[in-house]
Amino acid sequence: MQAWDDAVHALGVAEMDATHREFIALVNLLAACDDTDFAALFEKLLDHCRLHFTSEGRLMRISRFPALNEHESEHHRVYGDLVQMNRAVQRGRLLLPRAFVKQGLEEWFNDHLASMDSALAAHLKRVGEARVDLSGGLPVL
Ligand SMILES: [Fe+2]
Ligand SMILES: [Fe+2]
Repeated sequence: MQAWDDAVHALGVAEMDATHREFIALVNLLAACDDTDFAALFEKLLDHCRLHFTSEGRLMRISRFPALNEHESEHHRVYGDLVQMNRAVQRGRLLLPRAFVKQGLEEWFNDHLASMDSALAAHLKRVGEARVDLSGGLPVL
């Protein structure tokens, strides 16, 4: 996976950017590690994704994000794939998961960041600005 690059990855919402930095760092560790470390790191990736998706879910709910269902079902789909892959990893079958970490996951992340996560960040910024403009008139965030 590519290194973190503000120009490509930063969405301007601090909580999301911090989470995405962590995601990229973890995927890079997984792509570079040897077989003995892979299983433990893959568990960490699962933990990360659970928190990552929960945190975005919370941001979507408190800001009443209109595409909540679509975005969450995408999170659930990917998390389900990772859980399934983790079963193979914990049994020592690393070939497919390794290929996925190097290709599929990066592709998924880039697409997801550019579409659903960017839409969420834009919504959060709009809602935040509205709150400032109306001096507390909207009960958001
Ligand atoms: Fe995200
Ligand atoms: Fe997301």
